[in-house]
Amino acid sequence: NVPVITLNNGVSIPALGLGTWQSKPEDVVNAVEYAIKEAGYRHIDGAWMYGNEKEVGEGIRRSGVPRSEIFITSKLWCTRHHEVEKALDESLASFGTDYLDRKVRAIGVSNFSQKKLEEILPTATIVPAVNQLELHLYNPQADLIDYLRSKQITPQAYSPLGSTNSPLLTDESVTNLAQKYKLQAADILLGYLLKKGIVVLPKSVTPSRISSNITGAVAAVGSLTEEDVAQLDKVAPGGKQKRFIRPPWGVDLGFSDWNA
Ligand code: A2P
Repeated sequence: NVPVITLNNGVSIPALGLGTWQSKPEDVVNAVEYAIKEAGYRHIDGAWMYGNEKEVGEGIRRSGVPRSEIFITSKLWCTRHHEVEKALDESLASFGTDYLDRKVRAIGVSNFSQKKLEEILPTATIVPAVNQLELHLYNPQADLIDYLRSKQITPQAYSPLGSTNSPLLTDESVTNLAQKYKLQAADILLGYLLKKGIVVLPKSVTPSRISSNITGAVAAVGSLTEEDVAQLDKVAPGGKQKRFIRPPWGVDLGFSDWNA
């Protein structure tokens, strides 16, 4: 079973969800339906900016699983801070639901550095429940994770596999463990983050991967030892620290310090 994490406001979140960024609208209906109906996913991560919320909503409906059993995330994009309600209503209409699990039931942030959190926390009436970040073997952001823990903010990992054509899948430290435990490299990468209490959001539109990512990640949580996790923690500081996502968001707004 997928671990469940309790957020700082008491809301439960399944620790593994399906990522939908870069999933083509024509692929994502089936991917979401399959993930929920066949593979047992109960958490779908979306955003208005991904341009496929309508199709994600269609997949959720076709799964036949009640809305109340599924954790759905959307994101208010940084270009729309002046029209929160309108943007939210659009996402709700696209998903075909009347509430979200991150926005109404729980509010979080994404791509927030410690510096940005320190700016908002003194005046925030709601401490964000999550901070969604690029997190994986080569970009562990250990100091930021420690800071989030100290503020009861749950870290969520996007691109936990290192995105497309990922070198993480062939990293020796990962393939050795995969061989040892008779699992796949992706399972080790996901299990590693889950063991650290991080919510993982692997993206796939391929049914076999959608299935193996959930079963394999759960198996890896059972197999990986604290020593394995400590060994994997050492990989990135060993010179491989690397982001894969160079996002366009906010650049035209002058947020040149998105990486800070
Ligand atoms: P696809 O969607 O064609 O199955 P991330 O979640 O880190 O952004 O990674 C997503 C990328 O990794 C996509 O290109 C996805 O391809 C691919 N992917 C997803 N699951 C696996 C897996 N188990 N093994 C290898 N590649 C995978």
